[in-house]
Amino acid sequence: MSNVDRRSELARTAGRNTISVHVGEGTRRTLHEDVLDGLTRPSKELPPKHLYDTYGSELFDRICELPEYYPTRTERAILTARADAIVATTGMAELVELGSGTAAKTRVLLDAGRRAGTLRRYVPFDVAEQMVRATAGALAEDYPGLDVHGIVGDFERHLAEIPPPEPGCPRVLAFLGGTIGNFLPGARRFLAELAALLGPDDFLLLGTDLVKDPDVLEAAYDDSAGVTAAFNLNVLTVLNRELGADFPVERFEHVAFFDPERRWIELRLRARRACTVRIPAIDLEVSFLRGEEIRTEISTKFTRQRLAGDYAAAGLELAEWLTDDEALFALTLARRRLPDR
Ligand code: SAH
Ligand code: TRP
Repeated sequence: MSNVDRRSELARTAGRNTISVHVGEGTRRTLHEDVLDGLTRPSKELPPKHLYDTYGSELFDRICELPEYYPTRTERAILTARADAIVATTGMAELVELGSGTAAKTRVLLDAGRRAGTLRRYVPFDVAEQMVRATAGALAEDYPGLDVHGIVGDFERHLAEIPPPEPGCPRVLAFLGGTIGNFLPGARRFLAELAALLGPDDFLLLGTDLVKDPDVLEAAYDDSAGVTAAFNLNVLTVLNRELGADFPVERFEHVAFFDPERRWIELRLRARRACTVRIPAIDLEVSFLRGEEIRTEISTKFTRQRLAGDYAAAGLELAEWLTDDEALFALTLARRRLPDR
């Protein structure tokens, strides 16, 4: 083979690995705004996306391996059992994944796409830049011929940066890990934004954690090894580093409980003692009473009925409901509701 032939051969089989970055200065502003907004309310709160700096992402990976944290292994088991069927139903030529993280479970789908010979492009989208770069790099290497286009962005602000689908390439938009549950009460609005990204031949593949015994739920968010506590507390370290704040991290403790009325797990950080914290970057001084809490995350637990209602409100319809034997977790396929279907 001549050199020229070899080069064109490579171009044809090697796939492309591109990364576009849409966070940076703007995102730092978001952190400023989020913290100012969240910590000056009567009930203090912080939005969850700031939990995932490099160390936070590492801790989250450890959460996924914990015996108490059943969602990851359960979702993986459902994917393993159903990936070929999902690919057959959707004709998946392109997989776009929001909050892709390390994409460990996604490989099950990528393998099925490779077996079927339909898959052309994978688009991992995550706010954690190092994670997107490492994941895109590893996948481009492990899946020769696959076009990998990583996007570093905030899915609450940069969905428009997702490249348009190629004509005749059915797209699957995946949002796994139950992350949709971290949105409520805004999940319906977010689902409607996702619906707008779907063409008539495209599918949403959504992972949702299901309502179950509160003891099982609470253990999943308050493990005996303390990894979840460290993950939750890490957000204060992020504020100390990024905003020059002086949170005495050791004076706060991790709290997780199931709210049976709202059917969500609530994660909080509680001040063990009264303290005053300075946050120079936003020129703010915040006082905490002893026992005062900051809400850092909610994780909504679904039922089939609730999800069907959320889909309908977002202009989507449930196409497939895939669950495990114990009905711990559900993966669903949904499509845009079209008048003639
Ligand atoms: N999909 C993986 C990871 C879930 S953890 C799994 O199922 O295990 C949630 C992921 O979403 C993290 O990788 C985090 O960095 C990312 N994330 C959280 N908020 C985000 C936001 N606003 N925009 C983009 N990514 C976000
Ligand atoms: N999406 C995950 C969930 O709701 C995120 C998560 C797991 C999480 N454990 C956590 C977020 C602990 C904050 C704290 O299950």
